[in-house]
Amino acid sequence: MKPKERIILALDVDSEARALELVEKLADSVGAFKVGMQLYNQVGPGIVRQIQDLGGRVFVDLKFHDIPNTVAGAARVMTGLNCFMFNVHSSGGRDMMTAAMKAVQEESARLGCAPPLVLAVTVLTSISEQQLHDEMYISRSMEQTVMGWAQMAKECGLNGVVCSPQEIEPIRRACGSDFVIVTPGIRPLWSEKNDQKRITTPREALRLGADYMVIGRPITAAPDPREAALRIIEELEE
Ligand code: C5P
Repeated sequence: MKPKERIILALDVDSEARALELVEKLADSVGAFKVGMQLYNQVGPGIVRQIQDLGGRVFVDLKFHDIPNTVAGAARVMTGLNCFMFNVHSSGGRDMMTAAMKAVQEESARLGCAPPLVLAVTVLTSISEQQLHDEMYISRSMEQTVMGWAQMAKECGLNGVVCSPQEIEPIRRACGSDFVIVTPGIRPLWSEKNDQKRITTPREALRLGADYMVIGRPITAAPDPREAALRIIEELEE
């Protein structure tokens, strides 16, 4: 994979115009665009097709978590949108993840299209170990919970996980080289940290074993987003 293909640009904007302006500028400099709840809920699923029409692949980041039948329905919609990847919460359980995978396989066969990659979200990185115990009533440690859910996702046939840079190495060791690892919390040394705390540089994420890195503000908030993306690609190539 070329370094630029590893970059997933987070389109955390709430207008179609701003999103498409970024896609036009960056379609040939990044591997995919991430559409999250803000943009998807503001402008609707048509944004996925619009990005694709401009030559971009799309990671639809809606983190599904519902009963198996409902998540299977959403997984069929994602497959029909021909997105590159989408995600579900592994805390939704085995039945839910298995139903999502079955729906993707059946729908992609029916439509004759490539199946999207399905990724699991384990414990959100905004949750502390204390909150895991006190608010989610999970008694296992953070590490046991994250690793257990990553392995469960793999057993259910999911293609990979979204995880923090700190979790890349143990998940890679436990889940093997084919398991797709996507990591946010990426900051080049020259860019601002913003609200991210546990961060790593693009090169370090690659060294730790990430397949894809989600990068938002270091590119989108730069005076020249294209130049910022090219600078990151150069650093990855060094
Ligand atoms: O602008 P920035 O590079 O911080 O954007 C990171 C993107 O990755 C955002 O869309 C954010 O929601 C997402 N993300 C994250 N940390 C997680 C999961 C997702 O920053 N643990």
